[in-house]
Amino acid sequence: MGLTDAEVQRANRRDWDAESDEYQAAHGGFLRDAGFIWSPEGLDEAEVRLLGDVAGARVLEVGCGAAQCSRWLRTEGAEVVGVDLSFRQLQHGRRIDEATSIVVPTVCATVTALPFTDASFDLACSAFGALPFVVDIAAALGEVARVLRPGGRFVCSVVHPARRMFPDDPTEQGLTVTRSYFDRTPYVEQDEHGEPSYVEPHHTLGDWVAAIVRAGLVVQALHEPEWPPGLDRVWGGWGPVRGALLPGTAVFSLGKPPTG
Ligand SMILES: C[S@@+](CC[C@H](N)C(=O)[O-])C[C@H]1O[C@@H](n2cnc3c(N)ncnc32)[C@H](O)[C@@H]1O
Repeated sequence: MGLTDAEVQRANRRDWDAESDEYQAAHGGFLRDAGFIWSPEGLDEAEVRLLGDVAGARVLEVGCGAAQCSRWLRTEGAEVVGVDLSFRQLQHGRRIDEATSIVVPTVCATVTALPFTDASFDLACSAFGALPFVVDIAAALGEVARVLRPGGRFVCSVVHPARRMFPDDPTEQGLTVTRSYFDRTPYVEQDEHGEPSYVEPHHTLGDWVAAIVRAGLVVQALHEPEWPPGLDRVWGGWGPVRGALLPGTAVFSLGKPPTG
């Protein structure tokens, strides 16, 4: 099914609006109201500091959901703005803002058309936000690059491309390859009218690097967090059984070259 980004956004906005209450109820405790968790492996920015010192930095969180990461960044002294496609996800953010008194300004928009002027941020970040749901990742990365100042950085976690070879099953059944790594057909759910109601495109590691280069960014590091001993929490297709054997998350640290 060849889908445009507009069709994918329409489907995913509707899906995230519909699923947001359940998502926050299931995962809000693990994410913490003001915590920065990069992935189901529990990779915690408070420990790994992939963004470096953020005090005083202007930071954009892309696909912020209920803005838990942004709230943590605020506690570290950053000036943060969150962007998300789903209004319901942002409403959960407002609820948590009120509960914690740590308020994050947010905007309902898509990563492929960010409502900010060029070079307005020092840093951008995204924990599984937006990018796993975009067809044209070069355009999305180009938008993030546009709003970063020269010398700025973008760190983003996404589903590890190797995952798409396996069914979305955290048990031993999920250890058998069932599709080609090179099959770019997106995962699509359809509603009763045959319209796409949830879409996850697939990009290989090579596709990601090509898109990063096209966006004018450079790869500074690729992190593949390992499943930590003692974590028995299952999140969708992620869990300790497959986590011991397969990568589940790719975290790209990207830089925008300084000018001159
Ligand atoms: C898995 S959540 C990640 C949010 C948060 N970091 C968390 O862990 O809950 C993915 C988020 O990406 C948002 N999203 C999907 N497509 C998007 C797009 N094109 N632009 C902006 N946000 C998008 C969804 O609405 C959702 O809130």
